[in-house]
Amino acid sequence: MDKQISQAVIRRLPRYYRYLGELLDDGVERISSNDLSKRMHVTASQIRQDLNNFGGFGQQGYGYNVAYLHDEIGNILGVNETHNVIVIGAGNLGQAIAGYVKFERVGFKIIGLFDTNPELKGKMVRDLPIQMLDELPDFIKNNDVEIAALTLPKANAKSTALKLVSLGVHAIWNFAHVDLDDIPDVVIENVHLSDSLMQLSYNITKQK
Ligand code: NAI
Repeated sequence: MDKQISQAVIRRLPRYYRYLGELLDDGVERISSNDLSKRMHVTASQIRQDLNNFGGFGQQGYGYNVAYLHDEIGNILGVNETHNVIVIGAGNLGQAIAGYVKFERVGFKIIGLFDTNPELKGKMVRDLPIQMLDELPDFIKNNDVEIAALTLPKANAKSTALKLVSLGVHAIWNFAHVDLDDIPDVVIENVHLSDSLMQLSYNITKQK
């Protein structure tokens, strides 16, 4: 795809994907942009504009074919293929992420969980044993690791990210409380739940 799609549109696509997945589960075969807009609480014109970025997928008077649109958005998001993920930092958050089965439904398979604390060595989280960080180079060599989730203290985040890149991992899902934006040759998604909470706090304050 040559056309540059704005990040704002890309950020909305997972929501379309989720709603279309629910429609599929409910056996809905096609839906008009108006009906989709009512369900999703966005305007029909926003939906048409967003989906026009990718060629539209809709037909005048017919609406959208749910399975086709779901599949196409899945292709655009790259979730129709499996991405192998490792988790670095097997504390509360790392174990919660590794224990969550539903990421696999959208193409993310957690295949390894690493920590530096020897007391955690061998502890099972779902079907994965926690491994020590010194086992990481061999693990990456022998497995097709695409993404690393960083769920460790922020002081160790950058050095760990650099190490991962040197070992050949090129995508980082960063939960440590530091924005890792200045590392070359890697795609980074920084996730801060507190940002979302502050947004909620702002909206509560505005409502009062
Ligand atoms: P935790 O203390 O339970 O777990 C951290 C784990 O990282 C520990 O098991 C520790 O041994 C391990 N660790 C430390 N250095 C390491 C290294 N170099 N390599 C591998 N493992 C290492 O902490 P928790 O609650 O799981 O939080 C983890 C991180 O995520 C913290 O930085 C926390 O601030 C952050 N966090 C971020 C959120 C977000 O929305 N972005 C939400 C919750 C926590």
